Amino acid sequence: MNNIYEPNEQNLNLAAQTIKNGGLVAMPTETVYGLGANVYIASAVAKIFEAKQRPFFDPLISHIAEIDFLKTYAQTDERIISLAQKFWPGPLTMVLKRTDNNAAIDLACSGLPNIAVRMPSHPVALSLIKKSGVPIVAPSANKFKSISPTTAQHVFDSLGERVDMILDGGACSVGVESTIIDVTGKNIVILRAGGTSKEDLEKFLNEKVFLSDGDPNKPSAPGQLLKHYAPEHPLRINAATRQPGEFFIGFGKIADCDLNLSPNGDLCEAAANLFAFLREADQKKDYKGLAISPIPETGLGLAINDRIRRASYKA
Ligand code: TXA
Ligand code: MG
Repeated sequence: MNNIYEPNEQNLNLAAQTIKNGGLVAMPTETVYGLGANVYIASAVAKIFEAKQRPFFDPLISHIAEIDFLKTYAQTDERIISLAQKFWPGPLTMVLKRTDNNAAIDLACSGLPNIAVRMPSHPVALSLIKKSGVPIVAPSANKFKSISPTTAQHVFDSLGERVDMILDGGACSVGVESTIIDVTGKNIVILRAGGTSKEDLEKFLNEKVFLSDGDPNKPSAPGQLLKHYAPEHPLRINAATRQPGEFFIGFGKIADCDLNLSPNGDLCEAAANLFAFLREADQKKDYKGLAISPIPETGLGLAINDRIRRASYKA
């Protein structure tokens, strides 16, 4: 027996009631599973930080099911609304100026003047948010710094009974977290590469979109630590071939690998497989390390390279 539930009508109602009462519900989204709580209940928000063992300085994304809801707690403008209409529901998070200062939201935002918001596209997440009647704050449903979960079982393995309910919506179709953009300034800045590509944003906006990575003068997401998404084994990136004793994760036409993120070189397929493969490889105790092929730095490759760079970081 565990706390994984089929997302049928009855269980969704129970999960919504759990959110309304200040409990924790892990929900599937198209990117990764989220550990959800009611944005308006401070003790529920605090429980998220406790369950994940996450520092309070690392703010949470709030998930909504209707664009109109934005206006109740954030400043919007035409560009923001057009981005929301184009990319939501979907793997894009916008960092906006916050207009609601209640204690629970303050905690969720780590006291920052901004709030990060997105509308996930997974039907189970959308249904849960609608039934709960409140935005749901949700970080990835794993322990702080560890590999993000893309199945209900991953959530259970990482957080177990710390979560009241885990809704099982199958494997996540995108597989890496949402792209986070800061839209509070004149230029749009990507704080975290993710499931929406820089190219798609630039094409839609018809303007250059900037990357915050590596530039100390640009804002960045406080949670983007050098070491993150980390397996237990050491991970070697940009590996052309396997070294003795390594478990080798390939990409594209690589014959000698143990798992291949995408034999055809499809970056969307690779992103969807990434975290599950890292977990699977990490469970094999008879290897001394993991190695991963080079990944092209275009489209979702930006997000994949960001994750594996951090996963390979040696302190
Ligand atoms: O795809 C996703 O975004 C998943 C699913 C569950 O929605 N969520 C997710 O949450 O990846 P989490 O907590 O693992 O990562 C959220 C990132 C953190 O790096 C955090 O620092 C940043 O978002 N963030 C949250 N609020 C922010 C804010 N107001 N300003 C800047 N960065 C913010
Ligand atoms: Mg995370």
